[in-house]
Amino acid sequence: MFKVRYAHTKLILLALAGAVALTACSAPPGDAENGKRWYAMHNCSACHGQNANDGRALAIAGLDMGFSRFEGILRKPYSPSMPAFPEARLSRQDAADIYAWLRSLK
Ligand code: HEC
Repeated sequence: MFKVRYAHTKLILLALAGAVALTACSAPPGDAENGKRWYAMHNCSACHGQNANDGRALAIAGLDMGFSRFEGILRKPYSPSMPAFPEARLSRQDAADIYAWLRSLK
């Protein structure tokens, strides 16, 4: 009896650990349609261009970087010309939406 329960607990813990690892590493699923809207709303277009490849800042259409790097740049841009977008201003989900839209522009 005890052994069976213990085995179940172990399985549940393993599943939980897996879920935590997944949320930590991967992007939440993004919605490209919404992303296009957030991109305009947050004025990314002012610098990166309406189509994300026609602005005065670097083209980011098609973006060839992982989500965590992308989110890192939003929170703490490496260029002083780009404003930071803290989570209070741009949620992780909105960032994932923008990411999905940029990736769809390949
Ligand atoms: C005021 C101008 C400005 C705004 C607004 C702005 N950026 Fe930037 N962004 C820059 C500049 C400048 C760089 C550095 C590269 C360069 O010099 O073109 C940069 C870099 C980036 C990079 C890294 C590109 C790479 O390949 O290294 C990403 C990704 C990015 N911006 C996304 C965004 C997103 C998404 C938004 C809106 C939420 C945004 N930016 C808003 C100016 C801006």
